[in-house]
Amino acid sequence: MPSKTLPAVLPGGGTTDYARYLRTDDLLALQRGPAEWVHPDELMFQIVHQSAELWLKLARTHLAGTLTHLTTGRVGEAELLLRRACLGLRLITDQLQMLRQLQPAQFALIRTVLGNGSGFESPGWQQLRSATIDLDIAFTSLLTSLDVTPAGIYREQPSDPLYRLAEALVDLDERIASWRTEHYQLATRIIGADVLGTRDMPVNALATLISHRRFPSLWQARTELTDHSPRGRHGHQDRR
Ligand code: HEM
Repeated sequence: MPSKTLPAVLPGGGTTDYARYLRTDDLLALQRGPAEWVHPDELMFQIVHQSAELWLKLARTHLAGTLTHLTTGRVGEAELLLRRACLGLRLITDQLQMLRQLQPAQFALIRTVLGNGSGFESPGWQQLRSATIDLDIAFTSLLTSLDVTPAGIYREQPSDPLYRLAEALVDLDERIASWRTEHYQLATRIIGADVLGTRDMPVNALATLISHRRFPSLWQARTELTDHSPRGRHGHQDRR
């Protein structure tokens, strides 16, 4: 235990350097207080959303770096940053667990103060979506410049840099699908499956987004490899 608090030397608001550097006064004032709550679980609801936005902000920065590396052919560096973005998505998927504690009847109260707010407006998710579009384009042109096909990548060894990069992109796709699966389950658990969301979209429609792929060529490559295998894509061989 430190015997005494050292004086703050950094500029900015807050009584300690911890508070000044991390701007904890501002951060902790970003949630509505008890006087504004219709239910105390609003704090949980806000903190999970706000922290998801922060992790997505970090992921967006990593994906911007990934794009720069991809366009300059630095495959290993691109893979490392992609892995960081994937880890961020894993964290925001895990933290959805916290909202499973919400009681449907209490959340119905909280919904009354959300206005027309919709998850579709999440800046973090909007930027993630556009970042993956840019990455897919950059990855495709990288392959063209190297005269490699997606299926060709998977005929190399898993230690091959391009193979590892492709797998990191597939991991990112899977992380997005895992978040969507967890989020869909959460939404149906708390508000029900047939309820209309703010965009008049039934909660059940969220399930269709789960199978959406951001890097379709890498999934198609698997189908192609299976097609070219002795058994092909058909599950049952003709045993006549
Ligand atoms: C009690 C918890 C939650 C419920 C009941 C819920 C419910 C919903 C519903 C009904 C939709 C469909 C669109 C709409 O009507 O607005 C939706 C979409 C969405 N929500 Fe949530 N949500 C919850 C938590 C979260 C959290 C913590 C995030 C984190 C950022 C989030 C992000 C999104 C996103 C990004 C979409 C767009 C769909 C997609 O891209 O897959 N939601 N949510």
